[in-house]
Amino acid sequence: MKIKIEQLLEEARQFNAATIDELERFRIKMLGKKGELNDLFEAFKTVANEEKREVGQKLNVLKNAVQEKIDALRESLDTPVNTASTADITRPANDFDLGSRHPIAITRKEILDIFSRIGYAVAEGPEIEDDWHNFTALNFPPEHPARDMQDTFFIDKNNVNDIALRTHTSSVQVRMMETQKPPIRAVFPGRVYRNEAISARAHCFFHQVEGLYIDKNVSFVDLKETLLYFAKEMFGAETKIRLRPSFFPFTEPSAEMDISCNLCGGKGCSFCKHTGWVEIMGCGMVDPNVLENCGIDSTVYSGFAFGMGVERITNLKYTIKDLRLFSENDLRFLEQFKSANIG
Ligand code: DAH
Repeated sequence: MKIKIEQLLEEARQFNAATIDELERFRIKMLGKKGELNDLFEAFKTVANEEKREVGQKLNVLKNAVQEKIDALRESLDTPVNTASTADITRPANDFDLGSRHPIAITRKEILDIFSRIGYAVAEGPEIEDDWHNFTALNFPPEHPARDMQDTFFIDKNNVNDIALRTHTSSVQVRMMETQKPPIRAVFPGRVYRNEAISARAHCFFHQVEGLYIDKNVSFVDLKETLLYFAKEMFGAETKIRLRPSFFPFTEPSAEMDISCNLCGGKGCSFCKHTGWVEIMGCGMVDPNVLENCGIDSTVYSGFAFGMGVERITNLKYTIKDLRLFSENDLRFLEQFKSANIG
């Protein structure tokens, strides 16, 4: 038995491992359940009493030597310096695939950046909203047909204070005006929900960015100039805008804004249905009733608001024709936006 211990001690001293696997095999051979050391400790039970002391000491020396060898080798194999002998550490690192931003996130960021350059703050509101913020404060009277314009997902419909998934980000205007004193200059990005059958042109959820500017003496000219600036920044310096009269309960007057078709430059193509124009947002002067509902004196302050669909803007920028692509998470679609990743 003493000879066996000496042999193993020698083996442990000589042992060297080039890989973690090799080291692991050594560890199992020596210290594993059916390893050499366990065998020896088993045999130790039958050693004559007068030899027990000497053999026991030798066994402990062996055990410690094996353990120390394993620890030392493991540390050197784990340290990168050890690989310097075989690896070229001056080689450029391998590419790290980070994925890419979603096209909706890219557009959203671009819109917010454009407005933050002219001093707009960014704020968000809840997706689950009450009747007051989504409808009533925005001048939608009860039973008014305007409420039907937006098929709503109700969570709790009790006719006192309905709770619903917000149908537009205009609700955040109300929250902002209720809690902040003018001047207010902010944009509100977020997801909105409507009870619509899913198709290439409609979805039950989509994204909007809302804008609000309230101060003394804000006029329609300010609205028009601000939106012209936005259109040029977003779609290029040659972009033209036109405002068509429209109706929204919370703005008076209300308008819809078109931009010159960014695909054909306004000449007319199938994308703009040969009109040369494409609609991108609703806007208008905030109705005095809305200001009063939110505790802002409409004889002192005025302002404008606008709201745009992020999917719509993304479709125009990247000529995407099917809305469903945005929520299907098909990598073949998403990977195309790698080069468009910003920031
Ligand atoms: N909330 C409207 C919608 O979802 C869009 C809109 C129109 C927002 C006019 C506005 C606005 O702020 O002034 O259809």
